[in-house]
Amino acid sequence: MGKLEVIAHPLIQHKLSILRRTDTSTKAFRELVDEIAMLMGYEVLRDLPLEDVEIETPITKTVQKQIAGKKLAIVPILRAGIGMVDGLLSLVPAAKVGHIGMYRDEETLKPVEYLVKLPEDIDQRQIFVVDPMLATGGSAILAVDSLKKRGASNITFVCLVSAPEGVKALQEAHPDVDIFTAALDDHLNEHGYIVPGLGDAGDRLFGTK
Ligand code: PRP
Ligand code: URA
Repeated sequence: MGKLEVIAHPLIQHKLSILRRTDTSTKAFRELVDEIAMLMGYEVLRDLPLEDVEIETPITKTVQKQIAGKKLAIVPILRAGIGMVDGLLSLVPAAKVGHIGMYRDEETLKPVEYLVKLPEDIDQRQIFVVDPMLATGGSAILAVDSLKKRGASNITFVCLVSAPEGVKALQEAHPDVDIFTAALDDHLNEHGYIVPGLGDAGDRLFGTK
């Protein structure tokens, strides 16, 4: 079973509370998503492999550590996942970025895929799929399906707010995928929205409603 980790750092919890508020502006929402993604990145990337490197300090030659330069890819689920990309890229600027476009049919709540554009060597990359919301889990599951169909095998899912229903569904569908979330909320309402949640992440990020 994939690991579920709630990254409950006080800075993240504080920023997330502001993010959730109805009266938070589009501008502030965008900035907060970016900041929280960056703060989460510190934990999400903690297992990056290191290698030895010989360097010279003013005092002596010494063998120290550097990031092994393993190939990474950040894959946002459009639209809302886009808001999390820059925060992670600020930590790993050389990572490649793929995009998976998906929206939830409002009646069935089933995800509909409309775009997949990935680095050519996606099968060799360590992939971080990002989306602020893990609700029913349908979008995350389909995104991981899509990546695996293209040969990807090393996949981690990173979100801001998750529902227990979505976590369970993703863990059952893809037990090899670890999940990092900033908050595990209470439940889904009858419209498939996370409670207490933050509303529609895409609309709040882009100001479309
Ligand atoms: C939201 C969110 C996730 C999805 C989560 O996207 O960003 O992708 O819903 O719900 P699920 O776990 O039930 O699949 P939405 O469909 O609203 O598309 P948008 O980002 O383009 O607004
Ligand atoms: N998608 C969102 O943007 N918000 C939710 O609460 C559920 C799905």
